[in-house]
Parts: sequence; structure tokens; C-alpha cells
Amino acid sequence: MKVLVIGSGGREHALCWKLSQNPGVEAVIAAPGNGGTAEVARNVSVKDDDIQGLMALAKAEGVGLVVVGPEAPLVLGMADACAKEGIPCFGPDAFAAQLEGSKAFAKNIMREAGVPTAAFGVFTDVEAAKAYVKAHGAPLVVKADGLAAGKGVVVAKTVEEALEALDDMMVKKSFGAAGTTVVVEDALQGEEASFLAFCDGEHFALLPSAQDHKAVGEGDTGPNTGGMGAYSPAPVLPQEKYAETAELCIRPILKRLAELGHPFKGVLYAGLMFTPSGPMVLEYNVRFGDPECQPLLMRLDADLLGIMLACARGELDPGMLRLRQETALCVVIAAPGYPGGYPKGMEITGLAEADALPGVKVFQAGTKVDGGKTVSSGGRVLGVTALGATLAEAKKLAYEAVAKVGFEGCFFRRDIGDKGIIRSQAGRS
Ligand code: AMP
Ligand code: GLY
Repeated sequence: MKVLVIGSGGREHALCWKLSQNPGVEAVIAAPGNGGTAEVARNVSVKDDDIQGLMALAKAEGVGLVVVGPEAPLVLGMADACAKEGIPCFGPDAFAAQLEGSKAFAKNIMREAGVPTAAFGVFTDVEAAKAYVKAHGAPLVVKADGLAAGKGVVVAKTVEEALEALDDMMVKKSFGAAGTTVVVEDALQGEEASFLAFCDGEHFALLPSAQDHKAVGEGDTGPNTGGMGAYSPAPVLPQEKYAETAELCIRPILKRLAELGHPFKGVLYAGLMFTPSGPMVLEYNVRFGDPECQPLLMRLDADLLGIMLACARGELDPGMLRLRQETALCVVIAAPGYPGGYPKGMEITGLAEADALPGVKVFQAGTKVDGGKTVSSGGRVLGVTALGATLAEAKKLAYEAVAKVGFEGCFFRRDIGDKGIIRSQAGRS
């Protein structure tokens, strides 16, 4: 079978890498892919938001499965287009993808399904939003409703900051149409974790917990990024809590979407915060996290193609999901200036040396092959991922590999995994 993987990040390199190992996969096609996917798949330069172009490619190649990496094509209806052509698609339809595409939709579904989440208001009128902010007082979180590449969320410590965020989003339209509607919600406090599940519309199979590192700087300082590193499992959400956490945040959403006639097929990602009054959902994503996908797939010891087809067909058996017991940890290496502006085209050295370390895989994100050389072409460039018997061992090995690879001006956080290491040490004493 041929498989089409849509997207061009580290997540998509990991998906192509895993799928290409399956003897049942005749070829993986990546659209548009990157320098890493080129090693295990055939890159075709169709953009991830060109639904017509992607469908034409899927039909011309006769693919047996379309795997959608990022959210944009799902929100734009890639799964609906596949359904019309009878092509199995791993990813939800456009209605269900609103869980990520519209924060107001997500909050309303959470309320209807009884999922614990911060108290909130939804506004299309800036004066009404400002009145809510003044009545509630800070801290508050202001969120642009639509997709804003992870940038449309302002955690406001003061009323003034919240009012300024409302003006930015609703009046100055700094996120375009994404800010026409805003959600204003209570600010919560606690450690965050990502909890993902394969879903077939009705049944789900839980992936182990993971933790992202969203801020650019060590100690979670500086602006938010797409994610500077991740590891799995995350001690803040231990295995013995998976089942009850899924009853809180996965099953009710699947049930509600099925009732609405849009059963969720694909990966449902709950962004959780562990507050003093228990876990609360900050957001849903309708796809694998990037970089969470990289450590999760390093741990996957199962037939990913079979699981994805079963999700698409509504035949998922949780027994299909087997995982390595080790911990996996991914350190992102970024271009200088990221998440602001950054140069491109720097030659990457040491890829083979880092990859040669046992238990290490370097996933490529913003890279391309240029004249036989691999060069940077994005902000997040590499995701160096390692398996270890413990979180501390995975961290040590990942940073050994990080030391072997790089490019001019590159940087990375040195504290990936530390929150988990501190928590596991506290648990043992
Ligand atoms: P989101 O895109 O909704 O996940 O928000 C991005 C980030 O903003 C989250 O990972 C949190 O760090 C932070 N955040 C979002 N909502 C809240 C909230 N209600 N309270 C505190 N922090 C939040
Ligand atoms: N790593 C967070 C995300 O993929 O949204």
C-alpha cells in the first residue's frame, strides 16, 4: 500500500520514518515533506493547505491511506474530501477539527460534555469583552478563536494587559480573522502535560503521557514557540492515572462528537494543566503534537499503519497499541532568532554521527536537501530524540547526540526533561 503523509515538520519525519518500516507499506509519499522525509519517503511539493492538489496527488498515486500531520488541512476539510473519494484518512472531518480550529467551539463542546476546563466567556463585541475583563479582574487568559500558529493566546497578569490583548485581536486584527471572536478565560496554575489517544470515532487507545516545553528559554522563560523539546512518559501524569484521565477528557468528547454526527477519527490531543483542584483541559488539538510525536513514536512498538487504518475504518482495538517501557526525550535545535525572524540555508553537520548513536534518532523539521547538502529552512530545525531506561538516561543520551550535530548560530534548551526528573526524584524520597 502507498501512504500519503501531509506536512513538513519533525512530526511528519517521525510519521514517515515509522510508517516506512512497515513491510506492508510499498511507498510513503510526503507532501511537501522536508530533508528528513526525503530519506524515507518521496517528497512531492504540494502545500499542506492545497486540498485540491493533495487530493489530485492521492488519486494519481492510488494511495491506500492519507495521514494528516498538521491541523490546517483538517480544518480545511481534507478528511471530508478523502471520504468523498473513498480514500481512508487518518484525521477528523472539518466539523470535528473545529475542536482545534475554534477555541469557542472547543469550550462549548467541553461545557456540553462536562469536561473540566477554565470558566470562560465568548465574545464578538470588544466592549462586551472588556466589560467581562473589568468585572472579573486579572489574571485572565485572552485567546483568539481561530488558528494563529500557537500565538493567539495571551496570559494577562493585569486588567490592562488583557484589555490591550483584546484591542490587538479584535480592533487591530493582529491575527486577522482568527481574532474576530475571542475567548476570555480564568488563568489556571499548575504543571502541563499532553495526553493523546488514537480514536476510531467510538473507541480509543491511549498513548502514554508526554510533556512539551513551549517557552523558548530555559526555566520556561521568553516567548512561546511551537515546542522546544518533549519527553514521554511525563511523571506529572503517571500510568496509573491514564484511565481516569481519559474518562475526564477523551471519552466525553468522543461521545459528544458522535452524538453530533461527526465521530472523531485520528489522534485527539488534550492539553492538560494539573491544578490544585485536579486536571483541567486548556485546549484540544486534533493531531499529533510536534515535538511530542517524536518521543511517542520512538516508544511505539506496534504496527502504526494497522492502527491508523483501524482508526479510519472504525475498527480500533486498544490491544493493537504496544509501547516500549523506556523513556524517550527529544531536544529541538532551532535557528538563531527563532521564534522571531531567523536566517535560512545554514549547512547542518554531524547528522550521521548523531544518528549512529544506539538509541538515538535525529528527526528533521525545517530542513531541505540542497546540492547534496542538508541545510536549514525553518525555525525549528532538528529534533534529536533518544531512548533511555530512565528519564535521566534518555536526557543524557539525547544531549550527547545534540553535541554532535549543529549549524551556524543554532541553539537549544539545556533543561528538557528537568521538571520530570525533579518530580521523579521527589516521588522516590
Ligand atoms: P493553548 O493554545 O490554548 O494551549 O494555550 C497555549 C498556552 O497558554 C498553554 O500551553 C498554557 O501554557 C497557556 N494557557 C492557555 N490557557 C491557559 C489558562 N486558562 N490558564 C493558564 N495558562 C493558560
Ligand atoms: N507541541 C504542541 C503542539 O503541537 O501543539
